[in-house]
Amino acid sequence: MDKYLVFGNPISQSKSPFIHTLFARQTGQEMTYESQQPEPDGFVAAATAFFNSGGRGCNVTAPFKEDAFAFATRLTERAQLAGAVNTLKKLDDGEIVGDNTDGEGLVQDLLQNQVELKGKRVLLVGAGGAARGVLQPLLAQNPQQVVVTNRTEAKAEQLATLFSAHGPVTHIAMEELAKPEFDIIINSTSAGLSGQLPALPTTIIKREMTCYDMVYSAQVTAFNQWSIDNGAGKTLDGLGMLVGQAAESFMLWRGIRPGAKQVLRELRRLLQ
Ligand code: ATR
Repeated sequence: MDKYLVFGNPISQSKSPFIHTLFARQTGQEMTYESQQPEPDGFVAAATAFFNSGGRGCNVTAPFKEDAFAFATRLTERAQLAGAVNTLKKLDDGEIVGDNTDGEGLVQDLLQNQVELKGKRVLLVGAGGAARGVLQPLLAQNPQQVVVTNRTEAKAEQLATLFSAHGPVTHIAMEELAKPEFDIIINSTSAGLSGQLPALPTTIIKREMTCYDMVYSAQVTAFNQWSIDNGAGKTLDGLGMLVGQAAESFMLWRGIRPGAKQVLRELRRLLQ
C-alpha cells in the first residue's frame, strides 16, 4: 500500500488525513494517509525516515514549510517563488520534488465559486508567508492588477518587487486605501487568529465584490463578518482553499484529480 502523510507541529487539528482518505476512496486509489508530529527541529530526520521506509509523498504544514523547501532535491517554479513547500513527492530515481499547491488551491476554490480572476482588480491584504505562497498562481490567472497592502508597508513593497516579473503587481499603504476599486479582496493576514482585523477602511467595500478570508472557522470569520457588515455581496473562507490545495497535492502524487465539492461539504458538516 502506498504511504502518504502530513507533517506538522501541532498536527492533531489537521484535516488532511480526512480529506485525502475521502479522495482515495472517491478515486479508488490504494493508499494510506496519516499524520506525524516531529519535534520543532526534527523535520529532516522524520522526513528522511519516512522516505527511506517507502513513503511516496507527504504534505507539510507549519512550522516545517521552509524545512521542506530545503529538503527537496528539486523544486517546482511555484514552490521556488513561494519560498516554501507544502508537498513532497519521491520520484522513481530517488529525487524528492518540492511543490507548493496553496496558491492553486485558492485559485481553484475561487473558480469553483464562480469568481473569475481574469481582468479583475485584486487587493491582497498581508505580506507574510501566506501571501507569498499565493501570488504567482493569482498572477497566472491574468488579473488586471494585484495590489498588496500590509500593516508593515515595507514588506508589501518587497513582495510586489519580488513578483514584478510575473505579472501586474503593485503595493499600497493601508492608509491610502479609500475607494471601492477592487473586485476581490483576499485576507492573508493572521490577524483573525487572535480575533483582530487588518486596519482597512470600510469605504473599500462594495456590494458587487468578493471578500475571501484565507483562514476558516465553524462560524463566519472575523474578516468576513466585517466585510458583510460593510456591504460585501459575497464572502468565502479558506476551507475551500484547504480542500483545493489537497486536491492539487493528490493530483501530483496520483495523477488523478479528485472532486473537491463532496469533500468540502462533508468537511463543513464536520466543523459544525
Ligand atoms: P503567515 O505565514 O500566516 O503569512 P507571517 O509570515 O508571520 O504568517 O505573516 C503574517 C501576516 O499577517 C503579516 O502580513 C502580518 O503583518 P506584518 O507584516 O505587519 O506583521 C499580518 N498580521 C498579523 N497580525 C496582524 C494584525 N493584527 N493586523 C494586521 N496584520 C496582521
